[in-house]
Amino acid sequence: MAELSTAAETTANSCCAPEAQAACCEPSAKAGCCDPTHDQGCGCAASRTRSTPTLKRSGTVPCVSEGRFGRVTRAWDRRCMPLVYDGFLLLGELRGLRRLRGEVVGQAQGRVLELGAGTGLNMKYYSGVERLVLSEPEPGMAKRLGQRLKRSAVSGEVVSAPAEQLPFDDGSFDTVVATLVFCTVSDPHAALQETRRVLAPGGRLLFIEHVRGDAGSRRERWQDRFYRPWRALAYGCRCNQSTLELIGEAGLRTTEVGTARWRGMPPLVHPIVYGKAETI
Ligand SMILES: C[S@@+](CC[C@H](N)C(=O)[O-])C[C@H]1O[C@@H](n2cnc3c(N)ncnc32)[C@H](O)[C@@H]1O
Repeated sequence: MAELSTAAETTANSCCAPEAQAACCEPSAKAGCCDPTHDQGCGCAASRTRSTPTLKRSGTVPCVSEGRFGRVTRAWDRRCMPLVYDGFLLLGELRGLRRLRGEVVGQAQGRVLELGAGTGLNMKYYSGVERLVLSEPEPGMAKRLGQRLKRSAVSGEVVSAPAEQLPFDDGSFDTVVATLVFCTVSDPHAALQETRRVLAPGGRLLFIEHVRGDAGSRRERWQDRFYRPWRALAYGCRCNQSTLELIGEAGLRTTEVGTARWRGMPPLVHPIVYGKAETI
């Protein structure tokens, strides 16, 4: 099992005003909030050719933290987590995750979609891609993502969309990037099916995810025991999820998989798996 160590971080320009998304996705605006059609006004819905992914209109989709653990958790997720997220991960980033992000995300090519891009910690690792779409359904995160994109040298656009219901045509992307996302999305099965759908033939999923401990291990027992409090604290994260198996179930074949300890982070989120999966 590899030990993670250090590397660098940050980001470039945006077509989407995250403020507009924030207003649309306020907790009080339940029905219709996170409706991808609201992007129409901010210019995110551009482009309709083979080489540029199409943003489709689709139905209303649930906001990710809706009904998860009650009001307190929702307030924490929506208002506080976007502000503290980078600090929450800092030690883990310094002790290896940054380097791993560079290795994995640096392989992205062609038309690239990142799922649940958060505050944009992967942004600086994209280089020479044809098009970059950063999807993020939570308005607070999307706002920070847009800010980082503006400051960055990378060209891209922020789209407010949950991974379970991507507003893109089939086969629109050559690479989908997901880091620390499938443990958080409400429905990882649906998110992986959508990943497969939007990937072009021969397209690749690049991932970094923390996963369930080995069967019968003490870690696995602790993950099951602390699942609920961890989920409430850590943005809805499921620390005991077998994400590699879910990737396979979605019809994607993992071609390269590495395993690592996520140094600097609680044992509940070890081990980390990272690598590539292709459409079958
Ligand atoms: C643990 S953070 C990871 C952020 C970023 N990918 C990173 O590596 O730092 C999980 C992200 O997934 C987003 N998320 C939550 N539910 C989602 C969903 N249904 N679809 C897509 N992203 C979602 C969260 O808003 C958050 O930004």
